Amino acid sequence: MLRRLHAEQPDSFAFTPANQAWAEGQITKYPDGRQASAVIPLLWRAQEQEGWLSKPAIEGIADMLDMAYIRVLEVASFYFMFQLQPVGSVAHIQICGTTSCMICGAEDLVAVCKEKIANKPHALSGDGRFSWEEVECLGSCTNAPMAQIGKDYYEDLTADGFAKLLDDLAAGKVPTPGPQNGRYSSEPLSGLTSLQDHDSGKVQHNASVQLAADLGDTIKRIQGDEVPLLTPWVGKNGVVAGRAAEAPTPPAPAAPKPAAKQAEEAKKAAKKAAPAKKAAAPKAEAAAEAEPEVLKAARGGKADNLKLLKGVGPKLEETLNELGFFHFDQVAAWGEAEIAWVDARLKFKGRIERDGWIEQAKQLAAGEETEFAKRAKDDGTYDK
Ligand code: FES
Repeated sequence: MLRRLHAEQPDSFAFTPANQAWAEGQITKYPDGRQASAVIPLLWRAQEQEGWLSKPAIEGIADMLDMAYIRVLEVASFYFMFQLQPVGSVAHIQICGTTSCMICGAEDLVAVCKEKIANKPHALSGDGRFSWEEVECLGSCTNAPMAQIGKDYYEDLTADGFAKLLDDLAAGKVPTPGPQNGRYSSEPLSGLTSLQDHDSGKVQHNASVQLAADLGDTIKRIQGDEVPLLTPWVGKNGVVAGRAAEAPTPPAPAAPKPAAKQAEEAKKAAKKAAPAKKAAAPKAEAAAEAEPEVLKAARGGKADNLKLLKGVGPKLEETLNELGFFHFDQVAAWGEAEIAWVDARLKFKGRIERDGWIEQAKQLAAGEETEFAKRAKDDGTYDK
């Protein structure tokens, strides 16, 4: 199916303050320079908030992660879990139409959707509250046929049961997810012959269903101030566990380490010390800052295409221009102190050295072409 941006787009997108805080917390999960790894969680949260992913939402997230818009669009358009058009305000129903589900009655479920929601997939129901689509295998084949609604799976469906389920959703109820035929999970239809603990009545649902029932957010839009998924690795002071705070707190007295651990650490330290060049003082301590030569504007009004440096996307190029850097030779001239100065002003520290900007800039300033620049030009990504 062709997945492209919807013809009608809102003017803007913004996370709610709570979702913004959550998103910023997610970004801290990843090492400096690897924030793009948060793209799926952030897109998902935007979709949970709005129901679908608009162009402004995709671009807003790209800006947050310093990614090119096209990269985020690629992710959003690749995964079927992302909706690129408005969906029903109550629920978007995803019917699995792959083999197991198909031979067990998925077509009957699609017929119910056509009758109760809309004749065509991705169209809104008359009241705008529901939409549906057929999707590929959702991995619940032993409980075929099934549908995903919101965050949860409804399994072992029949046409009648599914029609009633839609009626319940329309009436404001949220039916309990999981098998709808009384099965506990995916045990044989004839019943369990072993591991029968749940038959004791102590456990009502299987673990997935129990969690869904406990969370109760199957079809809830996350729009208020609540942040149901927490970021426990971020302390109340905003400091990420395991990383240095801006103003470091005095280290806690070290707990005595077992001898084996000490020996292992000594071995690691010796290994690190081996390449004498790198073993000098830790970068963070050595890096005194010095402001590099900055310009008010590009010489002759024509800036170099800094995106030809690996690791520099459109957003970062804009930031570099704002800081006063327009030319490869400016970047090539940075020494350690200048790198520290620029690093301190970029969102993701460490990128300059990790991506080897200086070496690349030297080559580009000398009129040579780097491997990355060649590729970027060839595929038209960063040619301007
Ligand atoms: S075939 Fe439907 S979940 Fe796998």
